[in-house]
Amino acid sequence: MPRNAQPQSDTPPLTGQRKPVRIAALGDLHCTRTSVGKFQPLFTQISESADMVLLAGDLTDTGQPEEARILVRELSALRVPGVAVLGNHDFESGHQDEVSHILADSGITVLDGEACEVHGIGIAGVKGFAGGFGSHALGPWGEPTLKQFVHEAVNEALKLEASLARLRSAKQVVLLHYSPVQQTVEGEPVEIYPFVGSSRLEEPISRYPVSIVVHGHAHRGRHEGRTKNDVPVYNVSLPLLSRTFPGRPPFLVLEVAVDA
Ligand SMILES: [Fe+2]
Ligand SMILES: [Fe+2]
Repeated sequence: MPRNAQPQSDTPPLTGQRKPVRIAALGDLHCTRTSVGKFQPLFTQISESADMVLLAGDLTDTGQPEEARILVRELSALRVPGVAVLGNHDFESGHQDEVSHILADSGITVLDGEACEVHGIGIAGVKGFAGGFGSHALGPWGEPTLKQFVHEAVNEALKLEASLARLRSAKQVVLLHYSPVQQTVEGEPVEIYPFVGSSRLEEPISRYPVSIVVHGHAHRGRHEGRTKNDVPVYNVSLPLLSRTFPGRPPFLVLEVAVDA
């Protein structure tokens, strides 16, 4: 189990040829107009505890560019590379492209089906979408609107596949907003499981050498789960981490070993 500010490796003890990279992860900051000064201490702590940070969407509360500008001022305390995906809240006002540009202009790498490499670790990122899990996942059948809904989930999974296919790094990490597995949403009301993730996102993860997956969105889920192929999945939603680890700063630090 990872511990905040006390990184724990996802791999066996390191040899002399391997070095650990500390990855901080959190999502669901829901930055509002009243968040001025709220996140700077958090980003300072992250800079002291990790070599990079992954931001798992819902970075703003209503997707207003003003909220993104406030978040960027908070991010001025960050001293390590940051990689983000947007969440559904960042789409709420229809200004998601502007929100994305504001974050990118501040130096954050915003992924939407693209990939990047930081400290030798490949990161594939996509928002993802809803649709449910396993045999209860919604199928593309019936009314055109339902088919469209499922098409969106399939499209996000294809974007994730394309993102992973671009990576040449030996170690790969997947950054999502919606969950790819049911385990990390358990704790939410059962009735909303179909709206907090999609196991269609799990399929591409199983085809690539992914070390860890992080996601947000399910504020009341569980912080840790696994894919069918035993890849660790972490729900890094800020409200969930605050509740799960009271007294600790609300981010996880995950350690991935890369060849030195
Ligand atoms: Fe959220
Ligand atoms: Fe969300």
